[in-house]
Amino acid sequence: MNKTALITGASSGLGREFAWICAESGYDLVITARNLANLNALKSEIEAKFGVRVFVIGADLAKSQSVEQICKFCKENDLKIDILINNAGFGDHDEFSKCDIKKQNEMIAVNITSLLNLTHYFLNLMLNNGGGKILNIASAASLTAGPKMSVYYASKAFVRNFSVALAEELREKNISVTAFCPGPVATNFGERANVKNAKIFARSDDANAVAKRAFEAMQKGKTLVYDGRFMWLANLLTRLVPSTFSAKVTGYLNG
Ligand SMILES: NC(=O)c1ccc[n+]([C@@H]2O[C@H](COP(=O)([O-])OP(=O)(O)OC[C@H]3O[C@@H](n4cnc5c(N)ncnc54)[C@H](OP(=O)(O)O)[C@@H]3O)[C@@H](O)[C@H]2O)c1
Repeated sequence: MNKTALITGASSGLGREFAWICAESGYDLVITARNLANLNALKSEIEAKFGVRVFVIGADLAKSQSVEQICKFCKENDLKIDILINNAGFGDHDEFSKCDIKKQNEMIAVNITSLLNLTHYFLNLMLNNGGGKILNIASAASLTAGPKMSVYYASKAFVRNFSVALAEELREKNISVTAFCPGPVATNFGERANVKNAKIFARSDDANAVAKRAFEAMQKGKTLVYDGRFMWLANLLTRLVPSTFSAKVTGYLNG
């Protein structure tokens, strides 16, 4: 029987690429997002090409019952999750005082709370099953405070630090947790967050190439990976300069 990967946010961008990469590696898939049409189209394409099983769950992760719905689905269908890829997420560009506060709360629900709850549920099953792999998609944004996208940057700092702590707790348990921090990637993210034209998005990486590197890092059990052009430099600089200064530069780049 094939192993199974659960991928959130598989209807587009990096999540869609993860679905192809996992299927090519022989994993059955559980794919979830809100856009059912995209998920069902992906299911048909992947099943036809690779002959793996693909299960689709339409779920809005901003709603608290969605995580329960996903866990229940996996339980009822007797699906043992070997790989959990917490990829769903979005950003929003505006000054905090002017932003849609409902959207910021939804962002926290999707980027943080759903990731936390899915990890807690499937991690416990992985512990019972003797192993597993968790890949959490953080961001270069996790390195610094991000004026005009303050909630998004803070949410990704949470994902990065939470993942690294968890990896350490699980070091002896045959379960790896990888925090993957990409720079700008060519997906729907920029348009949805209204930052497509920001200086920071002037050069974006290819989604398939980024997803491949994330998948490889997860398979190798790496804990923290910064990915993309000049990310090594960004990582170094944000450690050397005061955080108020890196916030100023990031605010400029965010436009
Ligand atoms: N692109 C970048 O530059 C970049 C850089 C660093 C990190 N990241 C991170 O990479 C991850 C993937 O984003 P992407 O770049 O691939 O962007 P994307 O193309 O916009 O994909 C985002 C995915 O998240 C899902 N999603 C959003 N809101 C959701 C909700 N309320 N409930 C369930 N699913 C939801 C979307 O599905 P539905 O809309 O169908 O629900 C979609 O499948 C995100 O966590 C993002 O923060 C992206």
